[in-house]
Amino acid sequence: MSNQTYPKSAELLDKAMGLVPAQTQTFSKGWTQYPKGVSPVFATRADGGYVWDADGNKFIDWPMALGPLLLGHNNATVNDAVAKQLDNGIAFSLPTVGELALAERLVDWFPYADRVRFGKNGSDATSGAVRAARAFTGRSTILCCGYHGWQDWFIGTTTRNGGVPSAMAELTKPFPYNDIEALGELLAAHQGDVAAVIMEPMGLVEPGPGYLEAVRQLATQHGAVLIFDECWTGFRIHAQGAFGKFGVAPDMACFGKALGNGVPISVVIGTAEVMETFEEIFFSFTFGGDMLGIAAAGAVLDVLESQPVLAEVDALGRSLMDGTADLVADHDLGDHIALSGYGARHFLVFSGDDADGMILKTLFQQEAMKAGILAAGWHASSWAHTDDDVQHTLRAYDGVFGDLARWIGAGTLSENIHGERVQSVFRKP
Ligand SMILES: Cc1ncc(COP(=O)(O)O)c(C=O)c1O
Repeated sequence: MSNQTYPKSAELLDKAMGLVPAQTQTFSKGWTQYPKGVSPVFATRADGGYVWDADGNKFIDWPMALGPLLLGHNNATVNDAVAKQLDNGIAFSLPTVGELALAERLVDWFPYADRVRFGKNGSDATSGAVRAARAFTGRSTILCCGYHGWQDWFIGTTTRNGGVPSAMAELTKPFPYNDIEALGELLAAHQGDVAAVIMEPMGLVEPGPGYLEAVRQLATQHGAVLIFDECWTGFRIHAQGAFGKFGVAPDMACFGKALGNGVPISVVIGTAEVMETFEEIFFSFTFGGDMLGIAAAGAVLDVLESQPVLAEVDALGRSLMDGTADLVADHDLGDHIALSGYGARHFLVFSGDDADGMILKTLFQQEAMKAGILAAGWHASSWAHTDDDVQHTLRAYDGVFGDLARWIGAGTLSENIHGERVQSVFRKP
């Protein structure tokens, strides 16, 4: 795992340029997120905590497909359940017994939930929940905090809002996390028209004391539906998500990513009162309830129920996070690199002469990649990663941070970039 070269990736990227707009199906997986020319672009296979690229290079996979692979690639329990289901059919012309069984299990799993609807992507779940909240309240405005997917109602608030009518975008207002006054002001400014407060209950930082309780109280007071978007927190902070960790119950919650350990499935759960709205609204698609996702999710719950997955994933991730922070300090890089997040999900936050630290981030990725680490600038540890993976990564970071410190001192950061500089998916406003 050292000094990789990427001729095949380069050839395939050339082909993709004339074939696939954006050259990726998911911006955060595309070539703009890794230093072009010195990084892999296309993957071929993965196993456990590793991924292989089109040139046959092997990497420790820390981004893990942007989070779904909590149990790791090719988890045997999930694969067996999916294989068994393949033999029994994937898609049906009737609702299935399997979807009903999973719905029952989820209602038992989450004490505040009485009803369940399935989707495929996280965006299905968040957009379905938002539509249900609008129908339930007869109101239009949505207050949001975090990232919630590709649909008009949310993406209109970002800088990648092409194709979203302004009339649509204006109905959604973002609010800052851990700032209860800001939420209170927005609710007051849109008094009587807020259908939902939708938020990631925790992003990288924990809620301040009483924050989520106060959000809950404000939403209730203003007659707005409270939706927790647990696409990331779903099974990384607690097996019951934010409710399990912080004890605050939303009216609806959305889970995706880790629910199927990579097999596409998402879910909206919630109270009977609000969820009954799904009887009326249009939330319906060909692959809703497809049995591969349902089988995978059942297997994921089996593993979570029987094994200490979350404690182990968090502990391993914590050793990587703490070890990385120690190395940052050892190399006197504290003014340039900070660690943000928790064991099972954390970021290296780069700052530098360029406003957003992109030069430093690019160099970090370029150099870590040479040591066989798929370096996205963040780690989503899985149950399949090992202590050896952590130690290998930390040894590599020791060398990388040493180089970065030297180049910062010599003022030669830019000239050491051998690939193209990485770019933000969302432009700075
Ligand atoms: C918190 C959160 N919500 C929703 C989504 C959208 O999920 P998907 O990309 O599966 O549609 C994401 C995706 O990254 C997410 O992180």
